Formats: sequence, C-alpha cells, structure tokens
Amino acid sequence: MPEPHLIPYHPARRPEADMLSSGREFFALMNGRRSVRHFAPDPVPRELIELAIATASTAPSGAHRQPWRFVVVGDSDTKCRIRLAAEAEERQFYEGGRAPEAWLTALAPLGTGWEKPYLETAPWLVVVFAQLHGVAADGQLIPNYYVKESVGIACGLFIAALQNAGLATLPHTPSPMRFLSEILGRPENEKPFVLFPVGYPAADAQVPDLRRKSLAEVVVWHPAGSGSAKATA
Ligand SMILES: Cc1cc2nc3c(=O)[nH]c(=O)nc-3n(C[C@H](O)[C@H](O)[C@H](O)COP(=O)(O)O)c2cc1C
Repeated sequence: MPEPHLIPYHPARRPEADMLSSGREFFALMNGRRSVRHFAPDPVPRELIELAIATASTAPSGAHRQPWRFVVVGDSDTKCRIRLAAEAEERQFYEGGRAPEAWLTALAPLGTGWEKPYLETAPWLVVVFAQLHGVAADGQLIPNYYVKESVGIACGLFIAALQNAGLATLPHTPSPMRFLSEILGRPENEKPFVLFPVGYPAADAQVPDLRRKSLAEVVVWHPAGSGSAKATA
C-alpha cells in the first residue's frame, strides 16, 4: 500500500467583507450566464480554450483519477461531420418518435429542434469524454471511481471558466453520442459525455426567457434558522 505524502496547505484567510464582495461578484457573473445556441463565427484564441480546460482539470475527482479527456475541434471539416451526425440523431429524437412526449413537452419552452447550425458556426467544439477506466502500460484495466460525478464537476468548472473569460457555450448532448467516438477516433474506454460549442454569442442571439429557482426554493437550512447572513439578498 503506498504511503500518503502530505504537504502544508495554508491559503491566506481574507476579511469577511472581502469574501462577501467576491462572492456577490461571482454570483452576478454566473447569474449572467446563459446557454447560447446562436454563435458568431469570430475566432477565439486557442489559449482561452486551453485556460478553460486547465481550470476544468482542477476539479476534484473520485480517488483523484481525473477521468476526463477534452477533445478540441476547430477545423471546418470535422465540425461539419459532427453537425451532420448530431442532426441525424436529433432528427430521430425530435421527429422520429425517439423522445417520449413528456420530454418534448419539457423542451418546448426552449424552442430547440433537430437542426444544429451552431455546431458549424462556433469557432470551437470541445467534446468532453469520460474515462470509464484507465489502462496501464501492460494493458491492465485501472478502475475509476465516481466517474460521472467527477466529469460533471469538471464540466461545471469549464462552463464557469468560459463565463469568466467572456465566452459563451451550451452543454449539448445529442443522444446517442457514440458518433463522437467514431469521428474523433477515441478509444473504447472513453465515453462521450457532453459536447460544448464555444465562442461569442451572435449579435442577434436570443435565449429562452427562463426563470431560475430562488434561493429559498433550493436551500434547506438544517436546523431551520441556522446561520444568520443572507449573502445574496
Ligand atoms: C446535461 C445537460 C444537457 C443538455 N443538453 C442540451 C442539448 O442537448 N441541447 C440544448 O439545446 N440544450 C441542452 N442543455 C441546456 C439546457 O437546456 C439549459 O441549461 C437550460 O435550459 C437552462 O438554461 P441556461 O443554461 O441558459 O440557464 C443541456 C444542459 C445540461 C446541463
């Protein structure tokens, strides 16, 4: 059994007023985030994508397995192939009877459909794969733990990093997503997780008028009334 190797960790503590002000600023930044389905074709520097992926890759993960892989696509041919394959699946979903009626009803307010022009317009497509298990040099399988949770958290950090950089994205999950493994030549132990088009919103971009749940709807303080601050009031 390997011995743990521990190092000191003493991040500076900040005055509470500073913490509250940072917390409010970050909330305002993230509350301004929207999933964008209309992108400008303007180029985005590769370094911004690298920074967002580096940020995502700081995510905690089960047993520190870091079971994620980010495949970045910027060339028109591959984007076109991905769009065509995604639209074929999505057409089946929206119009071919694959989606249950309740799901289509839930999606109706978003105005989504099978056509996905943004898969070609956005300057970058970042496809996140979940590594179901690792593979050792001798071919032995190395188990990963809490893969979905870990990759989901990494995706959240990726979205936050893009928002912080002034970029827009959309978590897109054409179903099924196997075509992404084929087009991008990924190995059998990697499963497509989410496809993120990344870029700037188009000048005439629109988003559905959605309401987010209030704090009161999502928080339960237990026992009731514990703590006193109302940070986002
Ligand atoms: C796991 C996941 C999968 C999603 N898949 C799709 C998708 O395939 N197509 C799409 O247009 N939006 C997709 N969305 C975006 C949601 O519709 C969107 O997040 C939700 O409507 C809230 O809007 P907002 O992101 O602007 O707050 C997905 C979101 C998540 C978290």
